[in-house]
Amino acid sequence: MSADLRKAVVIGGVGVTGRAVIDHIDTLADWEAVGVSRRGPDWSTPTPFVSVDLLDRADCRAKLGAISDATDLVYAAYQPRATWAELVEPNLAMLCNAVEVIERVSPLRHVCLIQGGKAYGAHLGPFRTPARESDPRHMPPEFYYDQEDYLRGREGGADWTWTALRPEATSGFAVGNPMNLLMVIGVYAAMCREIGVPFRFPGKPGAYRALYQVTDARILARAILWSATEPRCAGEVFNITNGDYFRWQNLWPRLARFFGMEYDEPQMLSLAEFMADKGPVWDRIVERHGLRPYAYDQIVAWEFGDAVFESEFDNITSTIKARRFGFGDCIDTEDMFLELFDELQRSRILPAG
Ligand SMILES: NC(=O)c1ccc[n+]([C@@H]2O[C@H](COP(=O)([O-])OP(=O)(O)OC[C@H]3O[C@@H](n4cnc5c(N)ncnc54)[C@H](OP(=O)(O)O)[C@@H]3O)[C@@H](O)[C@H]2O)c1
Repeated sequence: MSADLRKAVVIGGVGVTGRAVIDHIDTLADWEAVGVSRRGPDWSTPTPFVSVDLLDRADCRAKLGAISDATDLVYAAYQPRATWAELVEPNLAMLCNAVEVIERVSPLRHVCLIQGGKAYGAHLGPFRTPARESDPRHMPPEFYYDQEDYLRGREGGADWTWTALRPEATSGFAVGNPMNLLMVIGVYAAMCREIGVPFRFPGKPGAYRALYQVTDARILARAILWSATEPRCAGEVFNITNGDYFRWQNLWPRLARFFGMEYDEPQMLSLAEFMADKGPVWDRIVERHGLRPYAYDQIVAWEFGDAVFESEFDNITSTIKARRFGFGDCIDTEDMFLELFDELQRSRILPAG
């Protein structure tokens, strides 16, 4: 491997973040990747994958121990659990297992940890906005803090540095992941059309009007590689979003026009409850439109949609710090949604028209 070539072990390689990182690295001459997850990729990529259960330390040693030339570790794995407290142990263990094997066998230079809005308590209720990286922590448990403290504590005696990035509602395509707003909206629109009801915002009135933000997974992928190669990012935390804020009340009618659907006023319902019985409707859509045959429970996780659409307070962070440190990538969020939905339709994941 040439001295200038960087090689990233992408932990969580089939997730919404990891897949975007691998897709990005696949286009670059000076980066290589190895994907790590229990499943293999379900898309075409030159990047090799290693199938490992990160919760199993012996499995990590056996499988990751053979990666001798990694310079970077991108940590984007996630294990959902029922309570905030229960999230801590498995999510910390997976990070420890990955770092402690890779740093031993490879010339590791940088670890990029993916955090998110929960670092500001976005899951708890209103918080100071726009949130800055220097804002005080909320009351734990918070697995992001345990992961960050682990990296801070370990870095002293190590040859590598770390950076943490905080996206919100990472928007890209992945299958079987618990947090994917893009698929919630895309599948919900297709179901409304099939059932013959207008495309209504299904959340609370306050959520329709509040300021919100999202992160295009392609921007997050570029920020991850930037953090690995910009020395000033060592030991720093950055909010990474599209760079703008929006209100669903302005975006929803535009999405309705894109999907060619009738728009109507919001009507609140629990997606988790009301969409639970609609697997057969999805199967019908897949068959009639010749879509790729993803199972209903793999392509969308309605609970995440409920969490976002019930959130009646401004959920926005400041991206000034990242810009000051040199990362200026941005995208208009309305354009992002339309671009990504267009791509999902062309890839026969969502129905077109
Ligand atoms: N998605 C969002 O909207 C969002 C927004 C803000 C912050 N974040 C944060 O970003 C981070 C990454 O989230 P994400 O949404 O990109 O994740 P994701 O789509 O849920 O993907 C999780 C990845 O972790 C892998 N994984 C889970 N358990 C594993 C295990 N035991 N062994 C090996 N691999 C395992 C999964 O693959 P297998 O299942 O095949 O193992 C998958 O590749 C998380 O900390 C999340 O909180 C996400």
